[in-house]
Amino acid sequence: MATNERVSIGVPGLDEMLNGGVPRGHTVLLAGTAGTGKTIFCTHFIYTGATKYKEPGVFLSFEESPESIKSNALNFGMDFGKLENNKMTKFLRYDPYNIEDMNTNLESIIREINAQRVVIDSVSAMEFYVRENTNFRKLLMGMSNSIKKLGCTTILTSEIMAGTHGISRGGVEEFIADSAIVLYYNRIGSAFSRAVQVWKMRGTSHSEKLHPYKITDKGVVVFPEEEAFIDEKRSSYRH
Ligand SMILES: Nc1ncnc2c1ncn2[C@@H]1O[C@H](COP(=O)(O)OP(=O)(O)OP(=O)(O)O)[C@@H](O)[C@H]1O
Ligand SMILES: [Mg+2]
Repeated sequence: MATNERVSIGVPGLDEMLNGGVPRGHTVLLAGTAGTGKTIFCTHFIYTGATKYKEPGVFLSFEESPESIKSNALNFGMDFGKLENNKMTKFLRYDPYNIEDMNTNLESIIREINAQRVVIDSVSAMEFYVRENTNFRKLLMGMSNSIKKLGCTTILTSEIMAGTHGISRGGVEEFIADSAIVLYYNRIGSAFSRAVQVWKMRGTSHSEKLHPYKITDKGVVVFPEEEAFIDEKRSSYRH
């Protein structure tokens, strides 16, 4: 159940855009084209939960291996080694062709470590293997509801195909999610710049502006005091 309590995402600057964080229990869609930093955003969420709030977290990936995600995170100063050993975090990878036991397995891991935070990176991978849109919707809804029943706050990442409109590949994810955050990578003249926008957040107010963010050696940093502008004539979004 979503409450008024906020859950910090742990990305510097982003919580300010969200009036403190996302409502506890929300299913949050994090959408963006390739390389916008979705996976790094998610590592902040799990790492901050485990280290700052003592909230265990589960990171389920379909494409990138847990080893690669953890070693990238280490480059940004997030060391998951001890957290994994202490069962504060659990990384697991699923082959999207074999997801039959995924929900039951995920549920038992959530219970085992008493997880409060869950990441599914990315739901677009699941979509590849569920051709029918209605089946994908059912699968996503079932997964989101079973995680929600366990009281977790969840980030689902979604890939946006470059050059397309909408904030998800299947046009399904944004309706299942309670909140949606979109990462943009846009070209202004000869340079690319990154911007983030809270697309929707059920039951609460939030910044409606587009704010710049950077990926630095400390990970993702959002600048909530600054606005990102796009000159439609001179720039183009990569989605
Ligand atoms: N040390 C660093 N300094 C600055 N930028 C970096 C650094 N390491 C990675 N990046 C940026 O982060 C991007 C990768 O971030 P991430 O893997 O989170 O993206 P993603 O949205 O999950 O991508 P995909 O859609 O491929 O899964 C790289 O494309 C690069 O631009
Ligand atoms: Mg990724």
